[in-house]
Amino acid sequence: MVDLKISHHPTISYRPIKPSDLEVLEKIHGDLFPIRYEPEFFYNVVNGCDIVSWGAVDRSRPDGQSDELIGFVTTRIVLAKESEIEDLLRYESSKSDQTLVYILTLGVVESYRNLGIATSLVREVIKYASNIPTCQAVYLHVISYNSPAIHLYKKMSFQCLRRLYGFYMINGQHEDAYLFIYYVNGVQSPCSLLELVTRLVAYMRSGFKSVAARLRKNEVKKALRWPKGTETCCLTTAAQSKRSLRTEGTGCQFV
Ligand SMILES: CC(C)(COP(=O)(O)OP(=O)(O)OC[C@H]1O[C@@H](n2cnc3c(N)ncnc32)[C@H](O)[C@@H]1OP(=O)(O)O)[C@@H](O)C(=O)NCCC(=O)NCCS
Repeated sequence: MVDLKISHHPTISYRPIKPSDLEVLEKIHGDLFPIRYEPEFFYNVVNGCDIVSWGAVDRSRPDGQSDELIGFVTTRIVLAKESEIEDLLRYESSKSDQTLVYILTLGVVESYRNLGIATSLVREVIKYASNIPTCQAVYLHVISYNSPAIHLYKKMSFQCLRRLYGFYMINGQHEDAYLFIYYVNGVQSPCSLLELVTRLVAYMRSGFKSVAARLRKNEVKKALRWPKGTETCCLTTAAQSKRSLRTEGTGCQFV
């Protein structure tokens, strides 16, 4: 593990990852992730081959270490139509050049955690994605029990769209993942079936309400003319209808 003691206030700065980061980057990945990455992955990261990445360094460390990575985020641009989340986008088939930014890896050395470094790295990714006119969203997978990461994405307003059962294979065990997404450039999540049902129920509810209100009005008018027993029966029915109409959907997303 790259174990660094911080005995001072770090001065964190962010920069692109470069070829001289290769060794440290590989070491930190090995320390932080249960999944092994191929040497080709690191080669592509440090050389910027199809991968865009940012590193975090602590400028207040002694010379020789002040440019050494203590955090990183690596991303890849993917075509929306070729992604697994095509169905979760308001995708116009005529615009076949629509893209997404996929976060491949994100990590911060343990002694530098909870200082907002990952938050800043993900912000860089969002800023980058927002500046690509064809980009619709930033998305990623996270293992279902990674509480710090899940907390981070939720705090940054990522939306959890799916639970993917057995997505990862770690030490021979299937592990679930969550798919988180952050829409950019004014893109909104499309209506899910659940949202459509919710809207339909709300629409029907308002319709029922106005009918019920009209009926009640008539009942009151009639009650002024009818004997008392009938009035009680009508009021019970109205209360029951009100209860049954209160059932609503829960919203657009599901986990
Ligand atoms: C996830 C990770 C990148 C976060 O890095 P970081 O620089 O510490 O993140 P930040 O400081 O920006 O934010 C951390 C947030 O998580 C919270 N947090 C820390 N530990 C937590 C825990 N066990 N459960 C829930 N939240 C936790 C912090 O309180 C902080 O939230 P706050 O700003 O509301 O106080 C880092 O923990 C890490 O490298 N983990 C190992 C690799 C990894 O899991 N990567 C993510 C793969 S998807």
